[in-house]
Amino acid sequence: MSLAKKVAFDPTLAEAVRTGLGARPKTLPPWLFYDEEGSRLFEAITELPEYYPTRTERAILETFATEIMAAAGHPGCVIELGSGSARKTALLLEAVFTHRPEVVFHPIDVSAAALDEAKTQLGERLPNLRVEPVCGHYLPALEALAHAGGPRLILFMGSTLGNFEPGEAIAFLRELRSHLRPDDLFLLGLDLEKDPAILVPAYDDAAGVTAAFNLNLLARLNRELGADFDLDAFRHLALWNAVEHRIEMHLVSLKPQTVRFAATGLEITFIEGERIHTENSYKHPPAEVDRILAEGGFAPVAAWTDARGWFTLRLARPR
Ligand code: TRP
Repeated sequence: MSLAKKVAFDPTLAEAVRTGLGARPKTLPPWLFYDEEGSRLFEAITELPEYYPTRTERAILETFATEIMAAAGHPGCVIELGSGSARKTALLLEAVFTHRPEVVFHPIDVSAAALDEAKTQLGERLPNLRVEPVCGHYLPALEALAHAGGPRLILFMGSTLGNFEPGEAIAFLRELRSHLRPDDLFLLGLDLEKDPAILVPAYDDAAGVTAAFNLNLLARLNRELGADFDLDAFRHLALWNAVEHRIEMHLVSLKPQTVRFAATGLEITFIEGERIHTENSYKHPPAEVDRILAEGGFAPVAAWTDARGWFTLRLARPR
């Protein structure tokens, strides 16, 4: 068996795909989005006119970074889960430097390319910042940072916790808390519930960047697992699920088809209209955010929001 293109075979990826596409309905885990091309497309999403979360969160940081870092006690060690290129984070890090000469920043991400970008960008902007990235999944990476000096501030922004099922989000927060020390703090950025007329276009933009981001999942499986997905035979679908309070992202099979994975021998059959559920983005009312944090084992310290009440940043401490 020979692959068209030589790629490093990743057994974790192969297993996640076998499990997800073997399930009914078919599904794929969100971390799969963020290969090099996916991270590049996600950066493009954050600049789209329809995609308000990034610029809303940035606006909160622009207004309140000084206040937030004061409330966090000007930590000398900042760890960010799913940092991506960490562009917004510079606003927070800058605010610490007014109170201490040295800060260590550990961005954690599954995308090595995004971490390189973070290191370069932040290095230029903040020459006294020590950037020590960890490439990997959140909790193993956090374990690798168990020795990092404290107190530490853990950032989890961009509404990434909203991509977890509510039960999973609580389980994740509990697990996270078990890795924290009593004097560590946690800053969470979450998108809030609003009019679906604003929500849906944010995940289905006119220029088709989000569609390309979603379809890149299949392109990645072609590249890395030798799959033969025909990208023209699937389409991007974003919808608002009012019962579950979430935006759902799917890839819809436009015809009956069978896809083969040369690297693993896996074969997956689709009927016409069948979906792969690729992502959820939960949009909670503010009270629900409080409840999730409390159930996750965190006590509130402070909260910030934008003028329209679209997005929230919560500072919390482990209980
Ligand atoms: N955390 C982001 C969000 O829920 C992730 C995201 C934005 C995303 N756009 C997307 C995930 C499109 C999949 C597809 O807003």
